[in-house]
Amino acid sequence: MNTENIFSKIIGIGSFAPEEKLTNEDLEKIVNTSDEWIQKRTGIKERRRVSKDMATSDLAVEAAKSAINMANINVNEIDTVILGTAFPDYMFPSTACLVQKKLDIKNAFAYDLNAGCTGFIYGLMQADSFIKSGKIKTALVIGAEVITKFLNWQDRTSCVLFGDGAGAVILQANNKPGIIDIRLKSDGSFADLLYMPAGGSKLPASFDTVTNNLHTVHLKGKEVFKIAVNSLYDLASELLEKNNIKSSEIDFFIPHQANKRIINAVVEKLGLNNNKVFINIHKYGNTSAASIPIAIDEAYKNNILKQGHKILITAFGAGFTWGGAIIEL
Ligand code: UT7
Repeated sequence: MNTENIFSKIIGIGSFAPEEKLTNEDLEKIVNTSDEWIQKRTGIKERRRVSKDMATSDLAVEAAKSAINMANINVNEIDTVILGTAFPDYMFPSTACLVQKKLDIKNAFAYDLNAGCTGFIYGLMQADSFIKSGKIKTALVIGAEVITKFLNWQDRTSCVLFGDGAGAVILQANNKPGIIDIRLKSDGSFADLLYMPAGGSKLPASFDTVTNNLHTVHLKGKEVFKIAVNSLYDLASELLEKNNIKSSEIDFFIPHQANKRIINAVVEKLGLNNNKVFINIHKYGNTSAASIPIAIDEAYKNNILKQGHKILITAFGAGFTWGGAIIEL
């Protein structure tokens, strides 16, 4: 194949969420909150939670199996496994290597990448670049997170927001358009607005880090909210303009599901039609890097998304990182 005409196309999509549902009513029994507040301020009604013995790789494997099944490929055709996560099974080795082993993928190089909630789009950019350069033909890109094990269940401002899950796609070289364009950004000056203070080389686990709840998600929600809306709007506008695509030509907008009000604000600024926006935050909360592939999978399996549709995806998260892509299905 002439490398100038190579596109990467999504040929398989899958997702997985653990069975246990944690509703807003359940949370009312844990912290001083209410179903009304959570729904009004975030759009979330329930989220999923893993059992104690489940880790990120377990969710990733289930999502990947379903994507591989839909793509109808042999696992040994997969050249790379890229897993976006901020909550890996271990500090090392990578969760992607554990997934590779569990799926018995023999011919791939596997690695994790941490770009917070934007991890899946960062993964798509890497896989797309490998494919377009001719280095590889087939990639498994996963977003998977177990967040509920890292929440401070006394902090109502953060514990109500997140849930566990995984989503995956198989990307393959194709001469018809698939990924049209991807744009990524980051700004490390906001690192401490959304982070986990302990567990890394700066502050390894100790008695103090555990007693002070430093192995949990720390979030300054209001600040994140404002920057997210403006950054996502700027990025999506640039992406559409650069590719000469009007917002009216987008069949579906599949945003990262962090807060329904963030989504609504971006939709309004972009002038998108509300009927063309896919929202499932009420069922899963914010599943970070997993949220976009879960949403794409759900929309596709429910016949909302169809082959040939042009979709816009965007995400914003820890780093800060943010990004977007225009994809033809
Ligand atoms: O994917 C990227 C990561 N996502 C994010 O970082 C999330 C971005 N931020 C947000 O989604 C929103 O900022 C939140 C949902 C976190 C908070 O919504 P908000 O409208 O910005 O609320 P706020 O922080 O301004 O708080 C308003 C009030 C406060 O009370 P006072 O000071 O007005 O008396 C909070 O203490 O709501 C209170 N509050 C709650 N009340 C009941 C905060 N959390 C809760 C809660 N239940 N769970």
